[in-house]
Amino acid sequence: MAFRSPFAIPRQLLVGTTSLGGRSAISSRLSCNQRGLATVVPPVTQDATGSKGPTAMVFMNMGGPSTTNEVEDFLSRLFADGDLIPLGRLQSYIGPLIARRRTSKIQKQYADIGGGSPIRKWSEYQCAEMCKLLDKISPETAPHKPYVAFRYAAPLTETMYEQLFADGFGNGKGGRAVAFTQYPQYSCSTTGSSLNELWKWRNRLEGKRANGGSEPAGAIQWSVIDRWPSHSGLVEAFAQNIEAQLKTYPEEKRDQVVLLFSAHSLPMSVVNRGDPYPAEVAATVHAVMQRLKFKNPYRLCWQSQVGPSAWLGAQTSDTVQEYVKRGQTDLILVPIAFTSDHIETLYELDQEVIHEANNPGVKRAESLNGNPVFIQALADIARDHLQKGELCSRQMTLRCQGCTSERCLGQKKFFAGQEHASMVI
Ligand code: FES
Repeated sequence: MAFRSPFAIPRQLLVGTTSLGGRSAISSRLSCNQRGLATVVPPVTQDATGSKGPTAMVFMNMGGPSTTNEVEDFLSRLFADGDLIPLGRLQSYIGPLIARRRTSKIQKQYADIGGGSPIRKWSEYQCAEMCKLLDKISPETAPHKPYVAFRYAAPLTETMYEQLFADGFGNGKGGRAVAFTQYPQYSCSTTGSSLNELWKWRNRLEGKRANGGSEPAGAIQWSVIDRWPSHSGLVEAFAQNIEAQLKTYPEEKRDQVVLLFSAHSLPMSVVNRGDPYPAEVAATVHAVMQRLKFKNPYRLCWQSQVGPSAWLGAQTSDTVQEYVKRGQTDLILVPIAFTSDHIETLYELDQEVIHEANNPGVKRAESLNGNPVFIQALADIARDHLQKGELCSRQMTLRCQGCTSERCLGQKKFFAGQEHASMVI
């Protein structure tokens, strides 16, 4: 399977390992003013037309290989990430071994979906379009400059950071940047991992270490949009895509179509650690169903499980098979946790799950991709964030109950800011 394939780790290597994570509802938020964020110094090389601009908008996501030649590097980084796939002290040794072993099979899957992942194309498009809207609806923070930082594929976090420097942010020139997660629902193994990486490179490139032991003046001022699982614009975009697919069924059958929301699964060890992702995915599903007036029966199921350990279920593939077996052959799969097409939709759902169902009533709702309703939602979320001057959600300051990671602690203290670092527990 698509996302599942990279995780097809030999059984003996997976025993006792864990991985992905999640998010929960947004509660109160920290604000720059509350936290005493230093006054932003506009970068000198920028054309600052807004009183608080320019603003760098950085989309964070896992990324994917744009060509089949990039698959091995992508898998190597993915399996080296202990936040995503904890393999213990031998991670840096075992990770590349697994990556090499998986490469040819995954290359074939990317070849089958057109030769590479479309996630870079969509991310760059969505971010650029969002920035154009932001320039109009938030002129005081304009110009908004689009950047993409992927965790496992180009453009990597360090590349994005160097580009920020080249464009006149940081390195003594100050400036504001917003790390905008493109995982609507927070997980410690997705958004958390991207923030850990951003924090690492920030420290390396313009932290104390890069400045002889003291915090440098004129470093980039970061804030984070860390979750947005039930934003009304996101919900509307999902709902419209579902309605469009429902219309392809005869009217008399339309209300009987079962909606199957599908999100990437998590090992139960991660769920039991307290990762908020399952609750936040459920929040998205509930909000979408509310918007659809609960006209159709629905279930949330989980895809891409792999390995011998227990994962959150029920699995999407099993769910489809079971309902079809019971005679429910009108099903719409709804990818609910990604913002664009990727191998999990184009290969795992389309070429495996739907193909194996072998029934014309089993379909998939369109992914968000270039949907203008969705891009407007991104702009609205970003505008609200910029206007509130928030640094991160209050929810981000609370670590998972079972978290013992010093890296999580340090990263959250950094993004919560000096005045609120003590709130991170
Ligand atoms: Fe969730 Fe560290 S694992 S905060």
